[in-house]
Amino acid sequence: MQQLMQIKSNNELISGIFEMVFAGDLAKEVKEPGTFLAIKVGHGFSPYLRRPISICKVNGNEITIIYRVQGSGTKILSEKKSGEMIDVLGPLGHGFNVDAAKGKKALLIGGGIGTPPLYELSRRLQNTAESVTHILGFADASQIFYKEEYESLGKTIITTENGSAGIKGYVTDALKEVGEYDVIYSCGPTPMLKALCAAMPDKELYISIEERMACAIGACYGCVCHTQDGGYKRVCKDGPVFRAGEVML
Ligand SMILES: Cc1cc2nc3c(=O)[nH]c(=O)nc-3n(C[C@H](O)[C@H](O)[C@H](O)COP(=O)(O)OP(=O)(O)OC[C@H]3O[C@@H](n4cnc5c(N)ncnc54)[C@H](O)[C@@H]3O)c2cc1C
Ligand code: FES
Repeated sequence: MQQLMQIKSNNELISGIFEMVFAGDLAKEVKEPGTFLAIKVGHGFSPYLRRPISICKVNGNEITIIYRVQGSGTKILSEKKSGEMIDVLGPLGHGFNVDAAKGKKALLIGGGIGTPPLYELSRRLQNTAESVTHILGFADASQIFYKEEYESLGKTIITTENGSAGIKGYVTDALKEVGEYDVIYSCGPTPMLKALCAAMPDKELYISIEERMACAIGACYGCVCHTQDGGYKRVCKDGPVFRAGEVML
């Protein structure tokens, strides 16, 4: 579905990271956490390509996204004001399998700007999973966002690379703190996802991956990644969430 949605707020959470809320019927189409939107950030043909951004939260007809100002497109996004309209296409792709954690212990592991899609996932697991634990990794204390929001949904362990908050190190350094877990959902930088795949080869692990996108609807094959058997998958259409081992990182 493509829709002009009205921006309700667009606030800087921490330096360079913004939370935007917009409203419209498209929100009711969101069935799976981990799916994403392709947002037209400018007017006319500049910039031409839509920007893929994950859905962080759905509340009635409102969608929340959290984005980092990365380049020209997200800079334009950050300058938008409440009341303005924004052209949104979505929800796109295949998200997290919520049913996989039904009656089980779910562990959600996010790194930096990869954490937002895990928030809606955690909300949806509240009534179905036996327990939900989060491990959120950031570079340092100044980069942490949504800590209280995650804490309100379950045990939340923070890691920072320099030890300025939480456990010093990477998300994998916090695994020994969480006890038993059955199903793991993760989103973050590729080195983090690789480390998780290596650390838990026998677990039911779902990973959300990023690839540069053009059409974002499965038509251009610009976002393909390779599978173990020599085939390929389109991240925008077949993913962005895959079972660990399904695609090569
Ligand atoms: C499925 C998916 C979900 C994402 N969710 C989020 C999110 O919730 N929050 C967030 O901050 N970022 C997210 N990203 C990354 C975000 O799409 C890029 O940071 C953004 O497109 C950069 O655009 P730009 O114009 O600011 O930067 P530029 O570097 O100027 O972008 C140039 C071009 O490269 C593309 N591009 C650049 N980086 C990426 C990237 N990492 N992935 C895909 N395309 C990229 C842009 O779409 C654009 O076409 C997601 C990416 C994907 C694929
Ligand atoms: S971006 Fe075109 S097929 Fe995925």
